Amino acid sequence: MIKDIQQQILALKKEKDVCILAHCYQTHDILEVADYVGDSFGLAQRAAETSAKTVMMCGVRFMAETVKILCPEKRVLLPEADAGCPMAEQLDAEMLSQLKAKYPGYAVVAYINTTAELKTLCDVCVTSSSAAKIIKRLPEDKILFIPDRNLGTFIKNQCPEKEIVTVRGCCPTHAQFTKADVMKAKSAHPKALLLVHPECDPEVVSEADFIGSTTEIMDFARKSDNREFIIGTENSIVQHLGIECIDKLFYPLSKDFVCRNMQLTKLASVFHCLNGTGGEEIVMDEETRLAAKKCIDRMLELGNG
Ligand code: 13P
Ligand code: SF4
Repeated sequence: MIKDIQQQILALKKEKDVCILAHCYQTHDILEVADYVGDSFGLAQRAAETSAKTVMMCGVRFMAETVKILCPEKRVLLPEADAGCPMAEQLDAEMLSQLKAKYPGYAVVAYINTTAELKTLCDVCVTSSSAAKIIKRLPEDKILFIPDRNLGTFIKNQCPEKEIVTVRGCCPTHAQFTKADVMKAKSAHPKALLLVHPECDPEVVSEADFIGSTTEIMDFARKSDNREFIIGTENSIVQHLGIECIDKLFYPLSKDFVCRNMQLTKLASVFHCLNGTGGEEIVMDEETRLAAKKCIDRMLELGNG
């Protein structure tokens, strides 16, 4: 049954010249029909390169907006209109303007998990895999980092030469776990290495054997000689690694490590979106797009190589 739907998706995709980009947090049946799977940085790079007439982003809204910002001539589709990132809504333009007035002369660095509107007010975007490299390459020494405080704290440790101010945002999925959750998982799996995403609380990050973006965590696990891993990010990564590396064992840091927004998109949503019976086409006014594009272009320029 799943294979039948996947076959129909592959046929529709070819017929309609659609490129499917999927974030690593999507379910495995979606990754199997995608043209590219990656973290936020890889998805933005790939969006800038694709030649297809239409791009479908299986992920959350800010990821689809990034594609539209980079590819205005393409139709950009989000299979589930309600798939947003709660962190992207935590700071609005007015709050950011107040922060900028409080910290004059600071470079405003936005995690890519922000709205297009907010990006229009920032100097550069970053992702979890590119943040430290980009911030080190900025000429400014004073940085206002929005909105994820946990990622900001992680970057502060990696860039001690910079003065980094953080604000109160966080990912509700990653920030909910504590050192007690780590201790419980470690005592259940004493031989496992702990791999965590930098959106986790610093007390969780400080216990990790490896800290990285979604694709960096997956690469580390693939290449490691260790056989057991506790995964401190969305549980879809436990599923993907378990299938890909059948000789290794993967345990979730918690069974509750679920991003409800990422999991809204189902294989059926992808089918309906391609079929014209579901999903949403991203539209954006040209003024917002051009203003937001500056900080994404700068991210790609400073984050590559
Ligand atoms: P990555 O860039 O690591 O894929 O992170 C995206 C995200 O939303 C993590 O919660
Ligand atoms: Fe947003 Fe967190 Fe979900 Fe990532 S895991 S999309 S940051 S809510």
